[in-house]
Amino acid sequence: MTALRWPSTVPTLTDGWLTLRGWTAEDADAVLAACQDADTQQWMDIPVPYLPEHAAAFVAESSQQWSTQQGAPFAITAADDDQVLGSCGLVGVDASHLVAEVAYAVAPWARGRKVAQQAVRLLCAWAFTDVGLARLEFYIETSNVASRAVATRLGCQFEGVLRGKALIRGTRRDMALYALLKET
Ligand SMILES: CC(C)(COP(=O)(O)OP(=O)(O)OC[C@H]1O[C@@H](n2cnc3c(N)ncnc32)[C@H](O)[C@@H]1OP(=O)(O)O)[C@@H](O)C(=O)NCCC(=O)NCCS
Repeated sequence: MTALRWPSTVPTLTDGWLTLRGWTAEDADAVLAACQDADTQQWMDIPVPYLPEHAAAFVAESSQQWSTQQGAPFAITAADDDQVLGSCGLVGVDASHLVAEVAYAVAPWARGRKVAQQAVRLLCAWAFTDVGLARLEFYIETSNVASRAVATRLGCQFEGVLRGKALIRGTRRDMALYALLKET
């Protein structure tokens, strides 16, 4: 079986504009502020109302995702001043099949500047090259136009719609599946 090259410590990835780094307890206020946004609450599977204890648990539990190799959650930050701009990461890592899901959200104060596109590009390059994953999947609600545009710009292939794929706050949601394969 092919083994993943999972890092022993959370890596820092940067292109000089954005930096992806691990979450810290000091980031909880930024997470709390970002998750008050209506679009984030509409498209992400997060508690509504989103309270300080939710943000504190999110940052505290992120290290467990890394240590159990289930996920790789990163804070997206500005490379120059470390301001939190969003969140991106791998979830549901399947080490047997070398497949993971990609998830992301950009804080309302950082939107419209291609932060999502560039951050996810960094994430995917690391996941393919360093970790050794072979396929990255993006599940996006069919009506989430901005997120579908991000996936398309990243060169993902649209593979179809999975009807009622997700149950978010009591409503079944149709999800568009996009995927990237490692270039061989
Ligand atoms: C989706 C999201 C991550 C995009 O982040 P971003 O950094 O602002 O994205 P970009 O600047 O790269 O813009 C993405 C594209 O969507 C378009 N767009 C942005 N907001 C839009 C809107 N409300 N309606 C339609 N298109 C929109 C942009 O014009 C751009 O299109 P282009 O690449 O053809 O120019 C961000 O809006 C967000 O966090 N939304 C809430 C959480 C979410 O939906 N996460 C994804 C779940 S699958």
